[in-house]
Amino acid sequence: MRWLMLGDITGHPGVAAVARYLPGLITKHRPDLVLANAENSAQNGRGITRQAAERLYDAGVEILTLGNHAFDQKDTASWLGDDPRIVRPANLHTSVPGQGYTTVKVKGKVVAVLNLIGPAGIPLGSNPFLFFDQFYKDISASCDFLFVDFHAEFTSEKLAMGWHADGRATAVIGTHTHVQTADERILPGGTGYLTDVGMTGPRDGVLGVRKETVIRKFIDQLPAKFDVADGFLQLSGVLIDVSESGRVTKIERIQQLEQ
Ligand SMILES: [Fe+2]
Ligand SMILES: [Fe+2]
Repeated sequence: MRWLMLGDITGHPGVAAVARYLPGLITKHRPDLVLANAENSAQNGRGITRQAAERLYDAGVEILTLGNHAFDQKDTASWLGDDPRIVRPANLHTSVPGQGYTTVKVKGKVVAVLNLIGPAGIPLGSNPFLFFDQFYKDISASCDFLFVDFHAEFTSEKLAMGWHADGRATAVIGTHTHVQTADERILPGGTGYLTDVGMTGPRDGVLGVRKETVIRKFIDQLPAKFDVADGFLQLSGVLIDVSESGRVTKIERIQQLEQ
């Protein structure tokens, strides 16, 4: 089966890019499951709203993952737990609303989707490596495939997680940096790996933010209000082909830039 994962959907341009490009990608690549990181998918690029989630579902996304910005919209905590299609980082405190993983049936197989957050740079959660070990012990008997969105800052912690989970997770795909890395590979145990899938949002900003504001901030060294950039769109994703046995047979990056 084939999975398509889209990277950090950022603000209204991110949702617009999904609406514009995803239907065509689905026709072309025929994925059996479409996932996306939606931690920045709210209109203003901070957190997620129900409205943004609905627009992403309408465009063809089936499962949404989150990250350090999961609760940037103040009402998210009140509804997140009602939607089984959205996962927030699992290694947060147990009192945090919402679920850290979900399962979905695809072509008769059970796919578990786990969202983890990395401690380096975004010290929010508990140790994701130990969390993964326990999670795998608990869940592996009841699912066929395991997709991990590792939302983390450093290339080192992501690569380490790829190796750590190799042969246990079906795929470990990094999110959060908004910059796609060119290191997609199949690890020796059969796990598909990519350090960062990149951003889906405005093409000409800085990680989705208006470039003038960010340049100004680096010059002035003063706090600045970040607004989502306008203009051309981009979509970043990765296609993952999984065999019956659970080994990844092909992993391919996608980047679509509006011209
Ligand atoms: Fe993000
Ligand atoms: Fe993030």
